[in-house]
Amino acid sequence: MIRIRLLLLAGLAFAIHPARSEVVIANVFARHTTSLNGQWHVIVDPYDTGFWDYRRRPYDESAKISGGFALDHLAGDRTELVEYNFDTSPALKVPGDWNSQDDKLFYYEGSVWYRTKFDVQKTAPDHRFFVYFGAVNYEANVYLNGRKLGRHIGGFTPFAYEITGLVKESGNSLVVRVNNNRHADAVPTVNTDWWNYGGITRDVLLVEEPATFIANFLVRLKPGTTNTIETRVQLDGPDKEKFVKISFPSLKLAADLMADQDGFVQYELPATNLVLWSPENPVLNDVEISAGGDSLKDRVGFRTIEASGRDILLNGKKIFLRGVCLHEENPRRGGRAWSEDDARLLLGWAKDLGCNFVRLAHYPHNEHMARLADEMGILCWEEIPVYWTIQWTNSETLANAKQQLADLIARDQNRASVVVWSVANETPVGEARTRFLKSLVEEARSRDGTRLISAAMEVRTDPEDEFHKVVDDPFGEYTDLCSFNEYTGWYDGLPDKIDRIKWSIKYDKPVIISEFGADAKQGFHADALTRFSEEYQADVYKRTLPMLEKIPGFRGCTPWILCDFRSPRRLLPVIQDGWNIKGLISSHGDRKLAFQVLKGFYAEKARATGAP
Ligand code: GCU
Repeated sequence: MIRIRLLLLAGLAFAIHPARSEVVIANVFARHTTSLNGQWHVIVDPYDTGFWDYRRRPYDESAKISGGFALDHLAGDRTELVEYNFDTSPALKVPGDWNSQDDKLFYYEGSVWYRTKFDVQKTAPDHRFFVYFGAVNYEANVYLNGRKLGRHIGGFTPFAYEITGLVKESGNSLVVRVNNNRHADAVPTVNTDWWNYGGITRDVLLVEEPATFIANFLVRLKPGTTNTIETRVQLDGPDKEKFVKISFPSLKLAADLMADQDGFVQYELPATNLVLWSPENPVLNDVEISAGGDSLKDRVGFRTIEASGRDILLNGKKIFLRGVCLHEENPRRGGRAWSEDDARLLLGWAKDLGCNFVRLAHYPHNEHMARLADEMGILCWEEIPVYWTIQWTNSETLANAKQQLADLIARDQNRASVVVWSVANETPVGEARTRFLKSLVEEARSRDGTRLISAAMEVRTDPEDEFHKVVDDPFGEYTDLCSFNEYTGWYDGLPDKIDRIKWSIKYDKPVIISEFGADAKQGFHADALTRFSEEYQADVYKRTLPMLEKIPGFRGCTPWILCDFRSPRRLLPVIQDGWNIKGLISSHGDRKLAFQVLKGFYAEKARATGAP
């Protein structure tokens, strides 16, 4: 007998946010969508002439937009004064950053206006339409047919607007003012060691849905079990009290239940024959959800992850995380990675290295990454860009960081591969900072208590003994992992110093070294003491790995970094030229000596831990 219980628990994330007119459209790739990707006409607007009038008043201050590029207006006749024209303006590819598409925009930070036109064929008169953005860096002001849809900040998480009441059958004008200026109160703030790529950097989709549709769903193992599937479904629309059917064809499990007046329903399905997901056996199960005229399909894996003392247990078994860090950049093409092919290239290289884990640094990467990691059997650490020195006492900055975290969790909550939510990287110890990060941990736990919460913390050196490293960051109290970055041999001393390092780690938790490494110019060979040579980098790896093995709770690492990546902070001519070259693979895809050192270490680790 299948026991099904209706639990009136906290709904899932789908609401018209009071302050924001955005909606959360989860699982967008499984919906009825039309891609709006392609060549969009653009206007590069360094003085934001299209947004502010000459008195610096925004044209979109009131609902009726008073001027500016949002109106996408063409001169009616030869007498009318209009000083812009999208139709005759150049075009840029969407998705794509502008920096790598046009040399003139390589260093450009400011506003660029994007415009595309589209028609709509409604498949049913009562259907609803949404426009969905995978990500826009950093600020997006979005307009449709001269009406403001909303303003989104945060360059790495999805957002969507309902356009049902505004959309026409043909000639819809979608205009986006994209601005990637850096701000001290933003997340990230003004200083990062990655390129501030601007643009509509991920997919743009037109989503069509029935009047009442499945807005969001969560499928996972019921916390604390390995034989009960918990599913939550959230409907949105005028007629929420509908039967919601859920089925797992390969598991021969199905259930049908009436949603409550808020359109929410929760199931618990006993599943005795579940094969759990793991890197060695990344089993995914088809799930189908239908309600009224709407239906969604997805593929999900079931696994448990927990920290137990100094161990990390995946499906109850100890695991060592053989990882590497990645930036969301396709080194071959240059510019932001955004597609499934980009993800397959990067995760393929991580697999070649022998990884079962990746740290997607320092911001939410595109959704293809986690979905492909589900399929390829790679565990993921996902992070929000609370990076270096954020404004810790600024409540809007905190709200912004919380929103990015919430949007990331809503997007990837069904991904078995995602096991760590990281709320920060290398942030300076201090009360305001720790309070800020603590509230992010609470936010993450309140939205998803089934994954490990962490951050890349700082290490300090014992003032009495330069070889004595101490990890006692007070923030470590609130995390599930004790993870920190360590750069002995590169930012601190020469490689031989690594051999003498000893650790004092305050926390009895699994230790994950979230970064270590050294710069190396691929193809530059010299003795192991010559900085930027492959030999120097390889030596740092050869010495660091055995040093880390001495740390009692050492349960994994994600060396910095899989590939060389663009950074405005790396300016040494001939050697760096705007690239951080700590990659194990160059920007041309060529492997450095250290790649083999780490690959060898991981092969040995896999053998020692019985991983195939
Ligand atoms: C830091 C930081 C990275 C940076 C790296 C480096 O630890 O987290 O974003 O790129 O070190 O200096 O190369």
